[in-house]
Amino acid sequence: MNGFRRKKAFVVTIDGPAGSGKSTVAKRAALETGLRYLDTGKLYRAIALYLSRQSIPPVESENLKGILSRLSLKLEDDVVLVCGQDVTNEIHTPAIDSIVSLYAALPSVRERLLDLQRMQAEAPGLVADGRDMGSVVFPDADLKIYLTADSRERARRRYLEQSAKGDEISMEKALSIVLSRDETDSRRTIAPLVIPEGAVVLDTTGVPPEEVTDEVVRLMKETYRRKSEEDLADVR
Ligand code: DC
Repeated sequence: MNGFRRKKAFVVTIDGPAGSGKSTVAKRAALETGLRYLDTGKLYRAIALYLSRQSIPPVESENLKGILSRLSLKLEDDVVLVCGQDVTNEIHTPAIDSIVSLYAALPSVRERLLDLQRMQAEAPGLVADGRDMGSVVFPDADLKIYLTADSRERARRRYLEQSAKGDEISMEKALSIVLSRDETDSRRTIAPLVIPEGAVVLDTTGVPPEEVTDEVVRLMKETYRRKSEEDLADVR
């Protein structure tokens, strides 16, 4: 964060369902504060793209574990590379939207991504968005946020995003994808979407992203000040 001098990474997690505004807000908050932005959905999407292209079904197996352990997956700033190939522009499509949760529910997929995500937490820190950031990946995060919004509004946001990109999708289809992803993400047995313990819950229904970002940045600064004072008190 601008002016942040802690040696330890300052970790902010933003979890929530599809279309709750996580990525827009996390990206803006990271930019405003000079921290790194980590979009973990991108990693799940890249794996779903790779496995589906190889015709590997979303079913747990020893074969899948082997494939994942050999798979080269890298994050370079905003770019995600699978086997050295940049797939960033191929992972935000309705086709990937409709299958990604099935792959994300597999224990071996989640296991494969755990260390990769944790390794990104270097000083000065990061703003990480996903479904299990505050509950599983960074349970000791400095600040945990949970964003939510009414499902019709979340579907409308996805519909507008996809239409702007020229993808053919109806509002009904967008709503059904959002609802089925909510269902799969919240009901899976491993790392389900939950409100992490200690998280600040913000409902973004009808609230412009700039306002949500302002509130998140305010919480980040307040938390950073408090933590820095605690660190100083420990040294004294
Ligand atoms: O945030 P997103 O829509 O790009 O995420 C794509 C999918 O990846 C989402 O349906 C659930 C999964 N996901 C997850 O299970 N855990 C995360 N930390 C991030 C995403």
